Amino acid sequence: MRLLQKNIDEIKNRIDIVDVISDFINLKKSGQSYKALSPFTDEKTPSFFVVPSKGIYKCFSSGKGGDAISFIMEYDGLSYTEALKYLAGKYGIEIEEREFTEEDIKAQNERESLFIILNYATDYFISNLRNSDEGKTVGLTYFKNRGLTEEIIDKFELGYSLEVWDDFYKAALKQGFGEDIIEKAGLIIKKEEKVYDRFRGRVIFPIYNQTGKVIAFGARTLKKDTKQPKYVNSPETEIYHKGNVLYGLHMAKGPIRKADNCFLVEGYTDVISLYQVGIENVVSSSGTSLTEDQIRLLSRYSENITVLFDGDPAGIKASLRGIDMLLAGGQNVRAVVLPEGHDPDSYSKELGGYEFRKYLEENAHDFITFKINLFVNEAKGDPVKKAATIRDIVESISQIPDPIKRTIYIKESSVLLDIDESVLMTELNKIILKARRKSTPATEPPISIMADAVIGQKLEEDVSDRLNAVLRRKEREIIRSLVRYGYKEVADNVYLYQYLFDELKDVKFFTPVYEEIYNIFKDRISKDEELEAGYFLEHGSDQVKSEIIDLITDKYVISDKWRDKYNIWIPKEEEILSSKTYTDIERLNFAYIKKLIRKNLNELKNAESKDDQQKYQIIHMELKKTEKKIAGVLGIVISG
Ligand code: CTP
Ligand code: MN
Repeated sequence: MRLLQKNIDEIKNRIDIVDVISDFINLKKSGQSYKALSPFTDEKTPSFFVVPSKGIYKCFSSGKGGDAISFIMEYDGLSYTEALKYLAGKYGIEIEEREFTEEDIKAQNERESLFIILNYATDYFISNLRNSDEGKTVGLTYFKNRGLTEEIIDKFELGYSLEVWDDFYKAALKQGFGEDIIEKAGLIIKKEEKVYDRFRGRVIFPIYNQTGKVIAFGARTLKKDTKQPKYVNSPETEIYHKGNVLYGLHMAKGPIRKADNCFLVEGYTDVISLYQVGIENVVSSSGTSLTEDQIRLLSRYSENITVLFDGDPAGIKASLRGIDMLLAGGQNVRAVVLPEGHDPDSYSKELGGYEFRKYLEENAHDFITFKINLFVNEAKGDPVKKAATIRDIVESISQIPDPIKRTIYIKESSVLLDIDESVLMTELNKIILKARRKSTPATEPPISIMADAVIGQKLEEDVSDRLNAVLRRKEREIIRSLVRYGYKEVADNVYLYQYLFDELKDVKFFTPVYEEIYNIFKDRISKDEELEAGYFLEHGSDQVKSEIIDLITDKYVISDKWRDKYNIWIPKEEEILSSKTYTDIERLNFAYIKKLIRKNLNELKNAESKDDQQKYQIIHMELKKTEKKIAGVLGIVISG
């Protein structure tokens, strides 16, 4: 199993080394480069440099250096492929990796046939629109009356399907297509031995995949007052999965990248009209609420999305949930509401390109502000409604993966809602912690215990220096939080130390000095006695003393990059404790599991009896399963 070269290229193209490394350590701008304390040694003055123009980092105290990919490998102990997959996950790049089976090849052939017949159908419908009397008088006239230009009708390959039961069906048969493939393409409907054209008597909007191949059709009726649905669309087929298509994307992707923004509208005609007035960075979800696949697709081209809402409050509220998903996808969402009674199609025609564009610019609000404004008037003077509004807003904010962005929104909401920032922050932390504990119930023992008890493998033995160093760093992070913030409340009546003890249970630390600190802490707590750093300095071993001094003097350096970018305050470590600690624990587990896997593979290699081999193979599969699970929580994609 390998990554495809085109995926590797795409990943490499997206990498911004400062952005990548900032996810792990705090970089400070220094001239053309950035610097930080080395994550690989315990230094006191920064000797770790990142040079964005060259895409490299260099750590003078450890001698390590390389590009963003090698940094990830080094820091998280990942293989080259795993590091690439992590980056693909970070940037929302979909990757393909598989070997083809015979079945795949068969399916591949069927897909090819579907593309061919849809291509034929597209031409056929265009020809109807242009050359047949019915097509000209009914279909073309309709498009012209709606104000579409020849050029746009051409560009979107609009067509017409005649008002005849089986016109297309007959033509396709004559062309040599089998009934089977015509049906599989969704172009006909079979009912009691009779065959009908699916789209008869409708204008046709071809739907494309990202590479511009036709994969389906949307077909609009021209009759008023009928009981028929306005649109009939192709059914799901081998090549058409409604949930991961965005109408217009094949044309919009260049413009979206260029504008670094994407307008999201509801319908086919909205996309076409905006295009006609010169706004080309636009796609439509085809009337349904957004899916995660669609969001991932969009995030490849830009992180910024502007959603256009028709001016109808009930409709807006109905689509808010889908927008929360955009936030969860990490996108920066803005919203524009059109005047009542208008949709993007009608309003862009009314104003013309220049004025419409101006309207969009002047009326786009970031989504949280938009949502607050939507509710805040209703909630005025009604404390119950106000409380509900607050919860709703904070719920939305909790969807945003980036803690810094969350903090910015909390700050903004605090002003708009006139509520203390710390109240909102506490509320936010509760929601985040709850959601995370739900997604991974703390019923499983930590991996280091599982290792001893179930798998019979001990962690202490050496595997490789690199993995050990990773593990040590993760353990240090946990102990640092314990020592510095053990008595902070991370949820209602839950102190950080309780949370940690609960999650870690009787974990055995791999690094002796951290094991010692952890046990001292536990011991004191069990005697119901408070513990301060000073206690360690009096009672710990020399090693503990020096480690503690290190831990409590270690500053959480805030990167100037963020401060410059947003010109606001940045969350203090204490304020993101619950979510940070949770991630730290999972990172620790991830490091443990990596070590166990490596060690187990060694055992497997050296196993002499068949029984032993089998045993280690089973253990390997179990370990990989667990690894995948943790990786999922951390948002890391792993191989195998
Ligand atoms: N839609 C659909 N089936 C329907 C109604 C709507 O698939 N019966 C989808 C279509 O993708 C449509 C979108 O929802 O483009 C938005 O619906 P609507 O606003 O009703 O359609 P418009 O595209 O605006 O069509 P028109 O302006 O021609 O009325
Ligand atoms: Mn419309």
